[in-house]
Amino acid sequence: MKLAVIGTGYVGLVSGVCFSELGNDVICVDHLKEKVALLNKGEVPIYEPGLKELIASNKSEGRLQFTTDLPEAVRQSDIIIIAVGTPSLPSGKANLSYIEQAAREIGLAMNGFKIIATKSTVPVGTNEHIQTIIASQTAFPFEVASVPEFLREGTAVQDTLHPDRIVIGTSGETARKYLTELHRPLTEHIMSTDIRSAEMIKYASNAFLAAKISFINEIANICEKVGADVTEVAEGMGYDHRIGSSFLKAGIGYGGSCFPKDTQALIQIAGQMDYDFKLLKSVVDVNRDQRFNVIRKLEASLGDLAGRTVAIWGLAFKPETDDVRDAPAFEIIDALVKRGANVKAYDPIATANFRQQFGESGVVYCADAEEAAIQADALCILTEWKEFRDIKPLSIQSWLRTPNLIDGRNIYSEHELANTQLIYYSVGRPNMN
Ligand code: UGA
Repeated sequence: MKLAVIGTGYVGLVSGVCFSELGNDVICVDHLKEKVALLNKGEVPIYEPGLKELIASNKSEGRLQFTTDLPEAVRQSDIIIIAVGTPSLPSGKANLSYIEQAAREIGLAMNGFKIIATKSTVPVGTNEHIQTIIASQTAFPFEVASVPEFLREGTAVQDTLHPDRIVIGTSGETARKYLTELHRPLTEHIMSTDIRSAEMIKYASNAFLAAKISFINEIANICEKVGADVTEVAEGMGYDHRIGSSFLKAGIGYGGSCFPKDTQALIQIAGQMDYDFKLLKSVVDVNRDQRFNVIRKLEASLGDLAGRTVAIWGLAFKPETDDVRDAPAFEIIDALVKRGANVKAYDPIATANFRQQFGESGVVYCADAEEAAIQADALCILTEWKEFRDIKPLSIQSWLRTPNLIDGRNIYSEHELANTQLIYYSVGRPNMN
């Protein structure tokens, strides 16, 4: 099939590349000239395991192109996938201006029947809005569809090529037929539904996963008080298939470009319909507060943080990505700097992105984990990179000036800490020092 994918962010780029891997002809479109130039040189603007190799092979076989020319891409394609960003407005509402602009430009460029499928996460009713915009620009027939994307950063290629399910929301039979055919090689679990339900499935899924994380984080906080171990509790809960074991890892709360934005947007969507989504509001509050447990534990260990040196390992919102959007590290480091601490920070690949957004004030960015930890009064682990897991706690002890370790992601076990003098705080586990 001939596809145009509008937007080369995580969702657009990974989907476009994976559809070309399935043998389709794909034109990826972005209005940013520099990004398109980079992609045309075979370079990838995001860090995503496996993506660079797939781009190279599909480009060389002529199935994958990158362009800024949206009208031409639309004219050459049968299916147009909208995958532009829907960032949060200050109110928490999703900003639909990129979607609306894409819809207008698609409408203007139409030269025959097209299927227009949205993969961006959009509030319920947006695809109908897209339909109205396109219809106002063209007399050619078309059908719209909502095909939400469920990929995770860091495993995006795997998630796209081997999804748990594909949801196709449409009111048109042609769109349903072609989009089912397009996705058929990926999974047998293809669910066909109406547009509004498909839009809601995406928000409800992210909100539910966010709720699981806030739930286990609160259980962890209670475990700390009653002397239970949240990793054991989560394991014991997870064997019940009605609960499931995933997304029950206690830590410093969720970040990233999806959960924070989508939970706020769903609260807004409900609010506009006069529905107070109390549960989800609590999920968001719990998440915001959870990250400050790192500061509370530091203060319990060191007292006043003014003039103290605090090492931070991990700036990305999760491992295997250089994405720092809504990473807990921002608020934690900001709180440390405000308390007068000197921060030494290190991340295997996200340092440049973090530095660009946070700046230099109060933070020294280090070239490796050891440099950050040397002579610090405490070390906080904020992202569970494998590189950190592979460092022996005894090495950490030898690098620190005073042996305080705040492990925000529970990367070490009791056994690994047994022969150390580290004063170790983890999340929801009995003190192991
Ligand atoms: C999330 C969803 O998992 C995807 O299904 C969805 O497609 C995507 O949002 C999206 O809407 O585009 P992503 O944000 O890439 O994907 O990352 P996750 O792996 O879900 O992690 C999100 C955050 O939750 C991270 O900060 C992670 O550290 C945290 N987390 C995750 C926990 O604290 N505990 C867990 O058990 C799992």
